[in-house]
Amino acid sequence: MAHSNLDTKLDQLRQNIATWSDSQENAQTRRDLRASALALAASLSTPEDIFADAFYQPALAVAILVAMEAQWLQCLSTNAAPLSASKLSEKTNSSRETIVRFMRVLSAHRVVDENGPEEYAANSITHWLTTPAALAGAQHLFPQTAEACLRLPSWFRNRKFAEPTSLEDGPFFATFQKTFWDSLRDDPAKHAAFSLSMEGVYEEDVIKSDARFIGQSLQRVGVLNDPDQVLLVDVGGGTGHLLRTFRDIHSGLPGKLVLQDRASVIQTTDPKEIAGIDLIAHDFFDAQPVKHAKAYSLRHVLHDWSDEDCKKILRNVCSAMRNGYSKLYILDIVLPDQGCSAPSSLQDIMLLATFCGKERSRKQFDELLASVGLRITQVFVADPSMSEGIIEAELI
Ligand SMILES: C[S@@+](CC[C@H](N)C(=O)[O-])C[C@H]1O[C@@H](n2cnc3c(N)ncnc32)[C@H](O)[C@@H]1O
Repeated sequence: MAHSNLDTKLDQLRQNIATWSDSQENAQTRRDLRASALALAASLSTPEDIFADAFYQPALAVAILVAMEAQWLQCLSTNAAPLSASKLSEKTNSSRETIVRFMRVLSAHRVVDENGPEEYAANSITHWLTTPAALAGAQHLFPQTAEACLRLPSWFRNRKFAEPTSLEDGPFFATFQKTFWDSLRDDPAKHAAFSLSMEGVYEEDVIKSDARFIGQSLQRVGVLNDPDQVLLVDVGGGTGHLLRTFRDIHSGLPGKLVLQDRASVIQTTDPKEIAGIDLIAHDFFDAQPVKHAKAYSLRHVLHDWSDEDCKKILRNVCSAMRNGYSKLYILDIVLPDQGCSAPSSLQDIMLLATFCGKERSRKQFDELLASVGLRITQVFVADPSMSEGIIEAELI
């Protein structure tokens, strides 16, 4: 009985995948199908499978890092024809035996194609992993965040499993004797890598959906008549991914667009790419300098901070908002009360280890926003498989 139930689910999934494969148009459909396939695979897993999956996983991340460091992925990606282990060894000056051991891991996980015994070719995943954003994220950010994550069990044990109360109290600080943000401040190359990876490691349709939603929501509440007034301020906006996408999608909407981030990030923006967007170096723990904008946005910002720090950031935005006029858009994961997806739940733990931050549920956002005088007027979950949400709020 259970067996035939599984067969039915598998048949349905195969059919849905076949339908999607014909067009491959909707990225969200692909993500939903993948989530269903993973749930189905999980229903077949034994405890031993789960143990192996969890505890062997670091070896996969490390294998990718070794292959990046040794230039194997880059070499395969720039070579139109497949390469044997011996040729790859010659081209990158590394041991053939080592290449074979690591390529076994990478081909088993579809990171490269194995065309024959000891013969490898790049595929779309190899190409993607050699983009500047992927290399920056993997090489500059992953090693430190992973180390802070591994520290969590002993760090929690020493504090009787209580949540951190400040950044200096967190696992990252315990490991490196500085906060993640100070480690970026002390190393401009790493800070640039962080901004680059924040832009490049999300699928393009997600940021488009975010920009589209904000534009449509603003059109509903009433657009500006005066093009000199400020339409949207993106606070902690990195190098301007959201605003550039917003500008391109909603080019007809009057009003100025303002990008704010730390001075060290603003300095790295490309003037050609950021055309038409005003730049302001601004620390969001200081008073918001742009008063009475139609809207402010905080994308992937609040989840990096504790409730206490979020309140400080939000109060600074609130003090610039005009009652009955300004809107605030918060773009972060909105955790469901039950049945959280695997990636969202894991990201929450990475945030804890790295920033003493956290993902929040609707109830947690309600409480956080109410505590600074804001109320939620709308919540839209753009990507259910990742729980990516957009919260629209206004002053009470
Ligand atoms: C996770 S990134 C998100 C960037 C961007 N909003 C996006 O969606 O890609 C967090 C951003 O907050 C910025 N940030 C961190 N501390 C800040 C501060 N004190 N004042 C202003 N920006 C800050 C970082 O430089 C970074 O660009």
